Amino acid sequence: MSWGRRWCATALAVALLAGGCTGGDDGGFRPGAADAGDPYVPGAGNGGYDVGHYALDVRYDPADDRLTGTATLTVTATAALSAFHLDLAGLTVDRVRVDGAAARHRHDDAELVVTPAHGLPAGKRFTVEVAYGGVPKPLPDAELGDVGFHHTPDGAIALGEPQSASTWYPVNDHPSDKATYDVAVTVPDGLAALTNGVPTGRTSAGGRTTWRWSERSPMASYLTTLVIGDYRVATGTHAGKPLVTAVASALPPDGPAAASLARTGEVADFLAARLGPYPFDAYGGVAVADERIRYALETQTRPVYGPAFFAGGRPNAAVVAHELAHQWFGDSVSVARWSDIWLNEGFATYAEWLWAEHDGGRTVAGTVADRYAATDWSKPTVDPGRAGMFGDAVYQRGALAVHALRRAVGDETFFRLLRGWLAQRRDGNATTADFIGYAERAAGRPLRTLFDAWLVGATPPALP
Ligand code: ARG
Ligand code: ZN
Repeated sequence: MSWGRRWCATALAVALLAGGCTGGDDGGFRPGAADAGDPYVPGAGNGGYDVGHYALDVRYDPADDRLTGTATLTVTATAALSAFHLDLAGLTVDRVRVDGAAARHRHDDAELVVTPAHGLPAGKRFTVEVAYGGVPKPLPDAELGDVGFHHTPDGAIALGEPQSASTWYPVNDHPSDKATYDVAVTVPDGLAALTNGVPTGRTSAGGRTTWRWSERSPMASYLTTLVIGDYRVATGTHAGKPLVTAVASALPPDGPAAASLARTGEVADFLAARLGPYPFDAYGGVAVADERIRYALETQTRPVYGPAFFAGGRPNAAVVAHELAHQWFGDSVSVARWSDIWLNEGFATYAEWLWAEHDGGRTVAGTVADRYAATDWSKPTVDPGRAGMFGDAVYQRGALAVHALRRAVGDETFFRLLRGWLAQRRDGNATTADFIGYAERAAGRPLRTLFDAWLVGATPPALP
C-alpha cells in the first residue's frame, strides 16, 4: 500500500466531509506525494512517478539575467495519479502539457502541481512539457550561503548539493530518480555554455549560439550543472571518448587550474585501473573563477572546481582525483537517500589518498594514521544529520572505514569487491545495508561488526 493510499484511508472520514479523497469511484487516482520523504531534504523530490528523460531547451541572456526554457520530461507513473508535483524554485510557468494536451497547474514556492485532464494509471508512460522563464535565483544553504543558479558578471553558474537543479528547470529533485538528459543552451555568440555529457553540436543564428549536450547514462539531478560565460574550452578525446574541459578566462591560461584539469585523463585512468571501467561516455571538468563557489562538485562527466582549490599557486590533482572518483562512487552508483552520503564521500576521499600515494605524495598508511588520530568517534558516519552531511565523520571517518575493510579482507579481495559492487550497481542507487551485504558476500565472511565499529561506534576501533 502506498503512503498516499494509507493517508487517504485514514483521512477518509474527514475527506468525505471535505470532498477531498473521493474514495475509489474515480478509479483510485490520487495526487502524487509532494516530496520524496527524505528527512535531509524536506520538500525535495516527489512521489508517484519516475522520470526517464529530460529534454531541456533553455536560453539565457546575461544582459538581463533572464532564462526562458522548455522542459520535456518522459515519465512513468508508479501510482494511479490524479495530479503530480515537480520541483521548480521561483521562475514563472507559462504553460504545461501532458501528452500534448493542456494541463492545469499551480505553482507555489518551489512546488509545481500539475493536474492533467485525465488520471494517469500506474505504469503509464507520458510526457510533460513545461514552458517557463524568469530571473533564476539561488536557494539558501546554511553552509554555503546559497546554491543553485548564480548570476556572474559574464554569465551564470548553476550547481549545488544536495539540491540545485530546481533553480533552473522543473525536476524530480532527489537522487533516487535518475534520468538521461538532452540539453540545448542558447547564449549570445562568444560565450560558452557547458553542461554534462557528450557535446552533440553547436549552431549559431541571429547573434546567438546554441550548445547541445547529451548525457546518456542516468544522472541524479544534483549532478547536473550549467556554466555560461567566458571560458577557454578545450575539446579533445580520451580513451576514445570526448574530453571537454573549460577554464574561466579570468584564470591564467597556464596557471594551476588549467594544469590540474589537464591531468583529468591520467587521473581517470589511474582510477579505472582500480575501480573498473570509467562509467560514462564523456570526460571533462570546469574551473570557475567565481569566489562564491567555495567547493568542487562531481557534476556528472564534468566536475566543477571552485577557484580556492587552485589558489595555492600550485596544481592540485588531489581534488581532481576526488571528483573523478565520485564518477564511480556517487554518480554511477548513487545514494538512495542522503543519510548514506558516506557511500559517496568516504570512497572519494579514500581514492584521493590512493592517488596521493601514487602521485608521490603521502602514503595511505601515513594519511590513515593522521586521520585516525584526529577522528571524533562520537560523530557517526552513517546518518550524520543534515548539518553533518559534509563533515569529517562522512569524509574522513568514512574513508577510514573503507581502509579498515581493505585491511580486513586484503588488497586482492578489496579491489575485486569494489569493482564487483560498482559493476552490479552501475547506473543505480544503493544504501549502506546494500554495500555491507555485498561486501560480506564478496568476502565470504561476516563484516557487520567491523562496519558498526568503524561507521557508527562511539569508541575508536583498533587501527588495522
Ligand atoms: N560532493 C562535493 C565534494 O565533496 C561536496 C560539496 C560541498 N558541499 C558542501 N555543502 N560543503 O566533492
Ligand atoms: Zn566529495
